[in-house]
Amino acid sequence: MISLAKPFFDEKEKEAVGRVLDSGWIMQGKRVADFETSIAEKCGSRHCIAVTSGTAALHICLMALGIKQGDGIIIPSFAWPAAANIAHLLGAKPIFVDSKTSDYNLNVDLLEKIIEQSISDGIRVKAIVPVHQFGAPCDISKVLEFAAKYNLKVIEDSACALGTKINGQQAGTFGVAGIFSFHPRKIITTAEGGAIITDSSDFAEKCRALRNHGNLVSAGLNYRMTDIQAAIGLVQLGKLKTILSKRKYIIETYLEILDGQDGITLPEYLSNSVRSENAASAVQTLMVLLDKDIDRDKIIARMAELKIETNTGSPAAHQLPIFAKTSDTCPAASELQKQGLALPLHAAMTKDDARKVAETLLDLIYPDTCEELQTAELETCLAE
Ligand SMILES: Cc1ncc(COP(=O)(O)O)c(C=O)c1O
Repeated sequence: MISLAKPFFDEKEKEAVGRVLDSGWIMQGKRVADFETSIAEKCGSRHCIAVTSGTAALHICLMALGIKQGDGIIIPSFAWPAAANIAHLLGAKPIFVDSKTSDYNLNVDLLEKIIEQSISDGIRVKAIVPVHQFGAPCDISKVLEFAAKYNLKVIEDSACALGTKINGQQAGTFGVAGIFSFHPRKIITTAEGGAIITDSSDFAEKCRALRNHGNLVSAGLNYRMTDIQAAIGLVQLGKLKTILSKRKYIIETYLEILDGQDGITLPEYLSNSVRSENAASAVQTLMVLLDKDIDRDKIIARMAELKIETNTGSPAAHQLPIFAKTSDTCPAASELQKQGLALPLHAAMTKDDARKVAETLLDLIYPDTCEELQTAELETCLAE
């Protein structure tokens, strides 16, 4: 089976975990502190707070901003609905923005109208949570521009974007804070895990308190990462460069076969015609968009029968039962949800694996063409 994702582990992670177990100290301790220092250094941020997941990181950040009942949070629909769920659980209203089918990121051209409309509907719009979807940077400068104009706080959901640079600066370092996820499908993993990065000492202090029962001074949570997880994370961080370049190599193989093929649209930043090295440098999920007449779910099922794991890219949060309205407010996100196909992508894959995935996909998309080609080849052979 060629799996969609796989952690890039070797003996080093096992040894690191073994050392933590032998030490007798397994909860948040020195390894977590070292992991936080390493992430902060790598990202060029002043503070890092390690937590139990990307969702926990978002929960803490929205609480640290003081988000409460009746507030509005601007969130792209086409993204894992972690921020939307947290907003909802805090009694706030997620205000969904549609995405672009070219790079799957929020469409900044729609932002101002949505903010204005929400304000005139009486919603206290407090924050924007832009997502760097699948590791591709969103237009953060435009997000910051509107945030400044309407006095909104920005928490960057960089769950998928460790290693993503925007003009040389790590994604997640532009707003009040940024978050990462270390789920096994992400660039590096700690099994489950997450982190917050911020330059604000005041915000970092609030986050640390919220992670640890409010330090018994205010109400808080227990979102502490363990030293076992951090030990894995430290080894993984040391492999970040290797992981990114191995993934890049796999993407290049996909591009050789898939770029320019009818029926499949690659994200714009990868295609040969509009290539962006920045965006292409840390792709966490390679999602392609299949033409509307192709039954995406059938392709996923057939690929699975052929021992290739593929998946839908991401839900469109505005269509989830808790958030859905009668009219489709984010049609591009709906299309991405319906026609997006995530291909296997991880550092342990080989070029042959990627070739097999891409060629199988083309065979499934064009079964008639394949047959026709085979017949034509046969006829040529017979004629010779
Ligand atoms: C954009 C985005 N935000 C947040 C999360 C939540 O991260 P976690 O699974 O670590 O809670 C994910 C996870 O898939 C994600 O893709």
